[in-house]
Amino acid sequence: MATARGRLQIMNPNFLSLVVALSLLLVISSAKVFFEERFDDGWESRWVKSDWKKDENMAGEWNYTSGKWNGDPDDKGIQTSEDYRFYAISAEFPEFSNKDKTLVFQFSVKHEQKLDCGGGYMKLLSGEVDQKKFGGDTPYSIMFGPDICGYSTKKVHAILTYNETNHLIKKEVPCETDQLSHVYTFILRPDATYSILIDNVEKQTGSLYSDWDILPPKKIKDPEAKKPEDWDDKEYIPDPEDKKPEGYDDIPKEIPDPDAKKPEDWDDEEDGEWTAPTIPNPEYKGPWKPKKIKNPNYKGKWKAPMIDNPDFKDDPDLYVFPNLKYVGIELWQVKSGTLFDNVLVADDPEYAKKLVEETWGKQKDAEKAAFDEAEKKREEEESKNDPADSDAEDGEDDSDDAEGDDADDDAKSESKEETEDVHAHDEL
Ligand SMILES: *[C@@H]1O[C@H](CO)[C@@H](O)[C@H](O)[C@H]1NC(C)=O
Ligand SMILES: *[C@@H]1O[C@H](CO)[C@@H](O)[C@H](O)[C@H]1NC(C)=O
Repeated sequence: MATARGRLQIMNPNFLSLVVALSLLLVISSAKVFFEERFDDGWESRWVKSDWKKDENMAGEWNYTSGKWNGDPDDKGIQTSEDYRFYAISAEFPEFSNKDKTLVFQFSVKHEQKLDCGGGYMKLLSGEVDQKKFGGDTPYSIMFGPDICGYSTKKVHAILTYNETNHLIKKEVPCETDQLSHVYTFILRPDATYSILIDNVEKQTGSLYSDWDILPPKKIKDPEAKKPEDWDDKEYIPDPEDKKPEGYDDIPKEIPDPDAKKPEDWDDEEDGEWTAPTIPNPEYKGPWKPKKIKNPNYKGKWKAPMIDNPDFKDDPDLYVFPNLKYVGIELWQVKSGTLFDNVLVADDPEYAKKLVEETWGKQKDAEKAAFDEAEKKREEEESKNDPADSDAEDGEDDSDDAEGDDADDDAKSESKEETEDVHAHDEL
């Protein structure tokens, strides 16, 4: 009876959609959201702009905007708006520990300025932070997100602070470099595994144990181990069966040149007996060597056996940040125009994924179309402003690229020293 009823119900499409809706509700309602900021009205009451670098006049202003191109003009975020400036802003949430929980840290970022050097990352901070003084020296727990500088740095940072030391991820994770919005997601699980996603696509995954040098390695090569005396690591040996052909050593290295002729005017009595000059003997093959064969006793290259590292002390709480309490943006920007939106700190990757679909996922096509439109306008303006350039129409793309590169180079050389300083301290 029960099975018959069950089957009937499952075949009912209304019931099916109800099941789907209910299970989605379950996923959503079981998610714990510690912080979510879509930058709607009132965002300024939740965020504290730091006074950091203000007295040096180096603190940049944030612009509350959806940017020059977007998928929805009413969906605003915060964007850096002044070049060569430091930016620091943070928001507080009820303190929590990610012990026994999955931690999801996610946000979207758009570099409208064709970023050539600057960060697009965010931080999670712990404990008590004076938000008015939040800056580059404020200790953080996690720093995550894209960082671009010149041609060499185009990566996603994932820095974890353990025992007051910042540890950079050892794996290279390339970041997006275009002028459109992208969502960066960092997932840290209680089994000490992690994943890094861009636009809901996993770009890197692994373990805290292997992809950071937070703890010493679990296994090391046995330093006491020695290669056994009788370990045969010669892959090839001389063939013991091979014998030197008879008469091999009688072949001379050089022979008289058979083409040489005694000169007409050679006088044996005055010049001595004529001998032909010698040439290398084409028959001569050098000293005899037996041919090589595979060594039947070859054991392979010797490797020290791996043993448990005596310096390794496991920390089952390696992934735990017990006092997470703030999310912050702290950046140096050579060229401004980086726009942050949809910040999330939660415990549920499914919830985070759905948020990406509902925000970025719904807007990305319109944003791309708006960007293409803006680019077209810009190119038209440029050729209008420069009518003397007869190449403008034929070679629009080439001339644009060239201009862009020049601008990039200028910005880079002017700011190189300062930028390197900032990057150096970030990675300490
Ligand atoms: C803020 O952004 C909008 C859209 O890009 C722009 O029109 C405006 O000039 C910006 N304001 C400042 C102060 O930068
Ligand atoms: C933490 O750092 C201190 C000082 O550098 C060191 O003595 C201690 O062993 C470290 N602890 C762990 C668990 O790494």
